[in-house]
Amino acid sequence: MRAKKRPEVRGILLAGGRGTRLYPMTAVASKQLQPIYDKPMVYYPLTTLMFAGIRDILVISSPDDLPRYRALLGDGGDWGLRLSYAPQAAPRGIAEALVIGEEFIGDQASMLMLGDNLIYGRLDFLREALAGNGSGATVFAYPVGNPGDFGVVEFDADFRVLSLEEKPAAPKSNWAVPGIYIYGPGVAARAKSLKPSARGEFEITDLNRAYLAEGLLKAKPMGRGIAWLDTGTPESLLEASGFVHAVQKRQGLVIGSPEEAAYRMGFISPAGFKALIERIPSSEYQACLKRALE
Ligand code: DAU
Repeated sequence: MRAKKRPEVRGILLAGGRGTRLYPMTAVASKQLQPIYDKPMVYYPLTTLMFAGIRDILVISSPDDLPRYRALLGDGGDWGLRLSYAPQAAPRGIAEALVIGEEFIGDQASMLMLGDNLIYGRLDFLREALAGNGSGATVFAYPVGNPGDFGVVEFDADFRVLSLEEKPAAPKSNWAVPGIYIYGPGVAARAKSLKPSARGEFEITDLNRAYLAEGLLKAKPMGRGIAWLDTGTPESLLEASGFVHAVQKRQGLVIGSPEEAAYRMGFISPAGFKALIERIPSSEYQACLKRALE
């Protein structure tokens, strides 16, 4: 008898948007292709999905930019991934990614990650949250000094979610919601029933509020050992580069490398990793990967 195929979580990497806050950097290259220190921004969230154990990933960007992502990332085969691509005709909101991804998601669970978010640290909590999600939704929570710039979640004493608001003028807590979300099967149908917000977008926070209203939303604080950075402004881009530079220099390790993530996750063999390294031009990046192999 053939073993039953294990359901595989689908990853969605959303890398569209206008990137207007990074103009003129974004005049000819999409925001998530800009460098964070030594590699394109999109490498970081891609490897986060990989460390969550996800191999089937849909990359969504604008019709103009999508070919550049395809040129950079290919079909993912070298990294033990299956990458596919879909356009978002206009930036109509983060929740639209789940509608665009409906067929790709099928009847599986999914993890949506924003292409401008960087999460660093031990990522076992992501695999645990995926395993415990069930049919509802899971968001994460991270304490920040400027919660009003993000989605904000409010908890009771037992860490049950009391409220969720998008960029509130008077935040009810200092817990921001990072751009990484887990959904059980059927999320596209829910996303389709959303109405555009006052700013004309299908808001991810509205989708998560729909789960909350049905008692199906979990919010999990990210541990203190985790660094979460978002890179939407020139200053936050510079800070993220400084962070990656400091950690890589100190540890001699590489952050946000799909080659290294594939190796560590067992998506490729040591021999496969070695072969990849040999194909990379002589560079600091190649030297870092050689150290990782050793
Ligand atoms: O970074 C986390 C925050 O991301 C959350 O706390 C907020 O709840 C969530 O709404 C979002 O807020 P932002 O203000 O950062 O969203 P922004 O419009 O900048 O979009 C985030 C990324 O998603 C950005 O890289 C562009 C991309 N995007 C955005 C929209 C609206 C798309 O690819 N398509 C879109 O339609």
